[in-house]
Amino acid sequence: MNLTRSAWMAALLTALIAPVATAVAGEQIVPVQNCTWCHGTSAQGYAMAPRLAGQRPAYLETQLNSFREHFRDAPLSKQYMWSATAALGPQAARDLAAYFSTIPPRAANDGNTNLATMGRTIYMNGIPDANIAACYACHGPNAEGIRDIPRLGGLSRFYLKARLEQWGQGYHSVPGSPMPLVARPLASAEIEALASYLSFVK
Ligand code: HEC
Ligand code: HEC
Repeated sequence: MNLTRSAWMAALLTALIAPVATAVAGEQIVPVQNCTWCHGTSAQGYAMAPRLAGQRPAYLETQLNSFREHFRDAPLSKQYMWSATAALGPQAARDLAAYFSTIPPRAANDGNTNLATMGRTIYMNGIPDANIAACYACHGPNAEGIRDIPRLGGLSRFYLKARLEQWGQGYHSVPGSPMPLVARPLASAEIEALASYLSFVK
């Protein structure tokens, strides 16, 4: 059987359009504009919504599913992301995650420069006396993330600080996350330092 010219064109068009708007049998089309009006036109983060650009695709996908299942439950997650993911099927979540991960990330650079050195020391070495693990062991030497462990470099100070506080306050992100154990012993000055340092990492 010959593949007709128009069938070939249709296949090519689908491949080109797929990462931007997804449609699979039984799933709604989700245009990226549904996301970028909060996360910023190039997904670099805006106001309370974090940067998605350059994030690990497996991490984005897991978090989207976690919002949809109401497992990730911090106040801003409930307020914004529960409704944003209510109609998001698993395939659409995977496609959006793949799309945002390919956008080159820019650093927020909004931390306190005086705290960056202290933040870097904690990031690289942890605080052995306080039983705080070195972040770099999981998030990578340049905070670039690996597999489903997220990139932290260049996220905004506001967002990083809120996330690091929330685990200590008993909110959840994904089942089985090591982060509650890692973050609970962090003092607020240490959280400030880590968030400042990481906001500058490219
Ligand atoms: C009305 C605003 C709004 C819309 C629309 C929105 N988001 Fe969000 N998003 C947020 C906010 C605010 C947060 C931070 C939640 C928190 O800190 O608990 C967030 C968090 C996230 C996170 C977690 C990022 C991380 O680093 O853990 C992902 C992933 C995400 N959004 C993806 C999306 C996608 C994909 C869409 C479109 C389907 C979307 N968002 C639509 C406001 C929005
Ligand atoms: C044992 C491995 C491990 C260690 C050590 C670790 N992390 Fe994580 N971290 C993870 C995993 C896995 C996730 C994703 C799961 C989740 O969302 O809870 C994560 C998520 C995060 C997030 C959420 C990012 C986002 O986009 O919302 C932040 C912030 C974070 N870690 C900061 C740190 C800091 C700071 C340290 C060091 C004090 C650290 N982590 C140490 C494994 C680790």
